[in-house]
Amino acid sequence: MDDLSAFWTAALRRLWGLDARLTRLDGEYDLNFLVHATNGQDYVLKVMRASCDADLVDLQIKALAHIASEAPGLPFPKVFPDLTGAMLPEIADSEGQRRLVWLLECLPGRCYAKAAPKSEELILKLGRVLGATDRALEGFEHEGLHRTGFKWDLMQAGWIADKLNAISDPARRALLTEICEGFAAIADVLADLPKQAIHNDANDYNILVEGELSERRRISGLIDLGDMCAAPRICDLAIAGAYVVLDHPKPERALAALVKGYHAANRLRADEVDLIWPLLKMRLAVSVVNSTLMAAENPDDPYVTISQAPAWRFLENTSVNGGLMSARLRAACGLPVVDGAERIHTYLQEHRGHFADMFGQDLGDVPMGSLSVENCVWPQDPFHMPLAEAARVGEEYGQDLWLGYYNEPRLIYAEPGFRKGPWKASDRRTVHLAVDVFAPAGTVLHAPMSGRVEVVENRDQHLDYGGVIILHHETPEGDPFYTLYGHLDPECCDRLKPGDPVAQGAAFARLGDAGQNGGWAPHVHFQLALTTDGMEADWPGVGDPDELELWHAVCPNPAALLNLPDDKVFYHPTDKADILHKRRAHFGGNLSLTYDDPVMLVRGWKHHLFDEWGRPYLDAYNNVPHVGHAHPRIQAVAADQLKRMNSNTRYLHPAQVEFADKILSKMPDQLQVCFFVNSGTEANELALRLARAHTGAKGIVTPDHGYHGNTNAAVAISAYKFNKPGGIGKADWVELVEVADDYRGSFRRDDADRAQKFADLVDPAIAALRDRGQGVAGFIAETFPSVGGQIIPPKGYLPAVYEKIRAAGGVCIADEVQTGLGRLGEYYFGFEHQGAVPDIVVMGKPIGNGHPLGVLVTTREIADSFNNGIEFFSTFGGSTLSCRIGKEVLDIVDDEGLQDNARRMGERLMAGLRQIEADFGCVGDVRGMGLFLGVELINPDGSEGTEICSYVKNRMRDHRILIGSEGPKDNILKIRPPLTIEAEDVDMILWALRDVLSEVGDFTPAPVCDHDHHHAGCGCC
Ligand SMILES: Cc1ncc(COP(=O)(O)O)c(C=O)c1O
Repeated sequence: MDDLSAFWTAALRRLWGLDARLTRLDGEYDLNFLVHATNGQDYVLKVMRASCDADLVDLQIKALAHIASEAPGLPFPKVFPDLTGAMLPEIADSEGQRRLVWLLECLPGRCYAKAAPKSEELILKLGRVLGATDRALEGFEHEGLHRTGFKWDLMQAGWIADKLNAISDPARRALLTEICEGFAAIADVLADLPKQAIHNDANDYNILVEGELSERRRISGLIDLGDMCAAPRICDLAIAGAYVVLDHPKPERALAALVKGYHAANRLRADEVDLIWPLLKMRLAVSVVNSTLMAAENPDDPYVTISQAPAWRFLENTSVNGGLMSARLRAACGLPVVDGAERIHTYLQEHRGHFADMFGQDLGDVPMGSLSVENCVWPQDPFHMPLAEAARVGEEYGQDLWLGYYNEPRLIYAEPGFRKGPWKASDRRTVHLAVDVFAPAGTVLHAPMSGRVEVVENRDQHLDYGGVIILHHETPEGDPFYTLYGHLDPECCDRLKPGDPVAQGAAFARLGDAGQNGGWAPHVHFQLALTTDGMEADWPGVGDPDELELWHAVCPNPAALLNLPDDKVFYHPTDKADILHKRRAHFGGNLSLTYDDPVMLVRGWKHHLFDEWGRPYLDAYNNVPHVGHAHPRIQAVAADQLKRMNSNTRYLHPAQVEFADKILSKMPDQLQVCFFVNSGTEANELALRLARAHTGAKGIVTPDHGYHGNTNAAVAISAYKFNKPGGIGKADWVELVEVADDYRGSFRRDDADRAQKFADLVDPAIAALRDRGQGVAGFIAETFPSVGGQIIPPKGYLPAVYEKIRAAGGVCIADEVQTGLGRLGEYYFGFEHQGAVPDIVVMGKPIGNGHPLGVLVTTREIADSFNNGIEFFSTFGGSTLSCRIGKEVLDIVDDEGLQDNARRMGERLMAGLRQIEADFGCVGDVRGMGLFLGVELINPDGSEGTEICSYVKNRMRDHRILIGSEGPKDNILKIRPPLTIEAEDVDMILWALRDVLSEVGDFTPAPVCDHDHHHAGCGCC
C-alpha cells in the first residue's frame, strides 16, 4: 500500500470506524478511493481538493438526501455520516492541508461508456431515470445551484461564440458558428422556461449499467452531482442526449428513446421538445471548444484531443434535419408532431365525404389490391426490381380502378436507395405511407381541396416518381399541410409552377404511363404530410417498419381526402403475436421456436428471408434451401410437373431414372442402387433395415451426440436425443463411441496418431455388441458430426473405423444429410475428405431444396440382400415431382458452380473467423470446411460458453443474421448458409460477429484441458 492509501485507510478507520482496503480511482482534482471494507460493503471515499468550496459538496449531499426522500427507488448513492454524525468532516491530510472528506455508497455496474449494447430499451430506461430525477429535484433549493460564469451551464453556453478562433479548421469553425446561431435563436424561449435544480452532467461515465450477456440491462447508478446547477430541465435531457447519440449506430432512434423515457417519467411540452436538438448540438460544441482550449494549455496531453473525436464525428457527419428531428421526438412522446396537427386531423375528419372526388367518381366501392410482402411476389428478386416487372406490378388486379394500401409493407422498393445501411440485410424502408390509385395512363386527377403548388417537377430516375406535384393546403385556422401526387405525366411541369393556385376539383394533372412515371404500372401515389421538413429533397414515400411511430404521425392515412373510411385503405400485416398464440394452442410444447423473440418469415430469395414487415434477414443457418430460397428453376419444375401428373414408383417415368443417373454420377462406382424416400429419417430407417438384412445382425456402433432422425429406430441411434434428460436411453443393440473431436476430445491436434486412436475406440464397442449377442450390423455416422458441434474428424478416421467394422462383418453407413452435395466446397461428399468409401450413403434435407425428399444409395450386393420378396414401397418417395425437383437441385449446383462458390466463400469466412479467433478470448476454436462451419465459444476458464453462445445467436438475429448453435453444451455457433451466399454477405457476418463478440467482454481464456492429457502450465489442473 502506498503512503497516500495508508494515510486515508487510517483516516477512514478513525472517522467512520471502517477497516478497509483502498484502491485509488481516477479523479481530475480530488482524491477518490474505492473502499473494500471488511464488513463486506464497498464504498467510495471522496477526499476533496484543498480549498474546495464546501458549499458545492454540501449541495451534492443535500441533493442526494432530497432525491432519496422524494424518489427512494432512484439509483443514487447514499452518503454515510461519520461516527460523530457529520456528513462532510474536514481533516488535515498528510501534508497538513485541510481536506473535506465524505463517504458514499458504491453502486454496482459498469459505466455506460463501456456498456454494450446500448439498446433503445436501455436508453429508454436511462430517460426514465433522468426524468424521475428531475421531477424529484423540482422542489430542491440550494444556494450553490446558482453558479455564475459556470462554463457547463448550458444557459450560459454562449461563451464559446467568442472563442471560436481557437478552432483552426475553417469548416469546423463554420459548423460551430452555425450551431451558436441556432442556440442564439432559441435563447429567448430558453430564458422563459422555469429553472430548477438539474444533474447537468449525465455523461456516459456518470451513468452506471448493470446486467451481463442475456440479462436485461438496467440503470444502476447516476453519479457525480458535482456540476449541478439551476437551469430548465430540458437542458438536463439535452446533455444526456449529447452523449447517447455519440457513436450510436442509430443516433436519431437512440435520442428518441431517451426522450420517450424521460417524457414517461416527467411529461414534457412540445415547445420544450423542440429545444432538445439545438441544445444537444450546443452542448457538444461547448465540449469541443472547451477541450480545444484545454489542449492549447496542455499541448502534451493527447487525451484532450482524442476525447473530442466522437463529438466531432457526430457533428460533422450528422445530416439530420432539425425540423424532422423535432417531429421525431414529439412523436416519441405522443405529442402533436407539428403545431396544429390536431386541428388538421379534425379538419380532415369533418370534411371527409365533402372533398372533391380525385377521380371524378366515388371510390367507396373500388376494390383494394395488396402488394404486401405476404400477398404479392413482385419483384421476384426483392433486391432488384427490373423495369419489366415494375411496369406489370399489380396486373393481377386488372386494368381498371383499384386501390393500393396505406401502411402496407412491400418488397417492390428493392433498390439500394431504400436500404439504410451497407448490407443487403440492413434495415430497409418498406412501409407504404400513401394510398395508390391504379388507373389507366392519362386518367385525369382533380384536386381534392384548394391549395397552391409547392413543388412540381419531373423525377425521371429509374423507379422514381416521374412527374410529381406537391400541393400546399391550409386549414381555416391557417395550419399548413401538404398532399403529394407521384407518377404523373410530366406534362404538368410545363403547365404549373410553384405558387400557382389550384382550385378544389380542378383537373390539375393526369397519370403517366410507364415511360413517363418512373417505370411503374400507371397509378398515382397519393400522400398526405403535415410537414415538409427534411423531406424537400427526398420525400419518403415509404418508411422503415421500425419507425412507424414517426411516419404515421408525419404522413397520416390520407383516406379522408379520398372521401374513404380510414379502415378501408389501412393494411394490417399478419399479427405475429396472434400466430404465436395460436401456434401454442395448436401444437405441442416441444415444437420449438428459435430466438427469444421468434421471427415470422414469409418470403425468401437466395440466402435472404423477409418477415411480415419486409425486414430482411441474411440466412446463414439453413442448409435445406441448398441452391437458395425460391429458386426460379425449382419453382418452374414444380409448377410444370404439377400441371402434368404426380404419381409413384409403381409406374415407369423417365424422371426416376434421370434423377438416379444424376446422383450416381456423383458416387463412387461401387454405389449403384438408389432408394427414394421422403426424409433423412426415413432414409436412415431404411439403412438400418438394409444393414440388418445384409448382415443378419442387429447391433449398431455410432458416435456419441449424433442425430439421424425422429422415428423410433432413428432416435435409438441418435445419442443427441436418447441421452438427453427425459430421453429413452440407449438401446441394447447400440454402442456409442466418442466423437472424433480433436479440439475437446481425448486426443488433440498435437497428437499425430489421433485418427487411429479415435478409431480404436470402436474395438471395445464391437466387442460389447458381440458380448450382448447383438452382432455387428454396421456403423453409422454423420460424416462430419453436426449437432455434435460442427466437427471435422482427423483425416484417416473413417477408413480406420470402416476397416474394423467390415472385419467384424458390419456395413458402413455415411449420413451425408448435412455434408453432401457440394457444401464442403472441396468435396462433393464428406467421405471423400476422409478417403473412405461407405457401403450406404444417406442424403436428405438439401436434396429437395425444401421439398420433402430423402435418398439412399448402396451397393448392388446389399440391395440384393434386402430384396427378399417383400415389396419396398414409399408412397411419396420417388414421386414424379420429387424426382424432378431432386434432379433439378443437383443440376443447379453444377450449372451455377455452387460447390466452387461454397469453397470460395468458405475460405473467405474461415479467414475472417480465424482473425476473430485471434482477437477474442471467448472464441476457443473455429473449424469447418466450405460452408459447414463452427465457432466454439468458451468461458474464461476454457469451459463451454453456453450462455455466451445463446447471447451471440440472439444478438446476431438483432443484426438480422440467422445462425444456429450446436454441440453437447450448445456452445458452438453453426454457420451453414445456402450455397448462394456472396462475398458481401460473408463480410456482413464477420462484421456483425465482431460487433457482438465485443459486447461479450474481454478475457484471455485458460487453455482447454481434459485433465488426463493436460499440458504443462495449462492452469486448470
Ligand atoms: C445428419 C442428419 N441425419 C438425418 C436427419 C433427419 O432428417 P429429416 O429431418 O429429413 O428426417 C437430420 C436432420 O436434421 C440430420 O441432420
